[in-house]
Amino acid sequence: MKNIAVFASGQGSNAKALLTKEKELQNSRIQVLLTDRKKAGVIQVARDFDKEIIVIPKARFSRSEHEQLILSALAPYKIDWVLLAGYMRLLSPQFIQHFYDKSLRQSRIINIHPSLLPLHKGINAYEKAYQQEPHESGITVHFVDDGMDTGKIIKQAKFQFQHPVSFTEFKNTGLQLEHQLYPQVLQEIDQNGLQDEI
Ligand code: GRF
Repeated sequence: MKNIAVFASGQGSNAKALLTKEKELQNSRIQVLLTDRKKAGVIQVARDFDKEIIVIPKARFSRSEHEQLILSALAPYKIDWVLLAGYMRLLSPQFIQHFYDKSLRQSRIINIHPSLLPLHKGINAYEKAYQQEPHESGITVHFVDDGMDTGKIIKQAKFQFQHPVSFTEFKNTGLQLEHQLYPQVLQEIDQNGLQDEI
């Protein structure tokens, strides 16, 4: 059994999509969710799915102290995979190394990012993409490395639209695609641990 943790800082719509997919998995289980924000919407999402959620606010702690607290809290769950779903903190090389998998030559930490990487790295990617008035945008699921949204790309999906489009409509189209793509990657983790992606 592969043990999965989902980290989120926001409303948790991707966490919800992953939890919805969980019932179809054969070899994996989302054991726990984790957030760094006391008021994050993902806390209610976890409750709705009857899942444990660990809340560890960053305040008062250095990054390394915060990450040590997270690793200690996760230890009982023997986590194999960490899925970042709107987790707004850059993880340290030490934390990433903790989940290193020799056969993958990657850490078993993945992230979903709302642009066609390498375009629009960092925060507010939907805003950045929208401002360029493209006719096509997209989303990316990638391995996490030491950089900001620089890890090896696992899967991307594109969406097209006609102008004029409001920002809300643009973002919702992307988010809906996120809710399809991330569960697909979860299924691949379940089936083959992403071995086919390397
Ligand atoms: C998503 O757009 C995701 O791609 C980005 O953060 C957002 C989180 O949204 N990393 P939600 O909390 O899952 O609704």
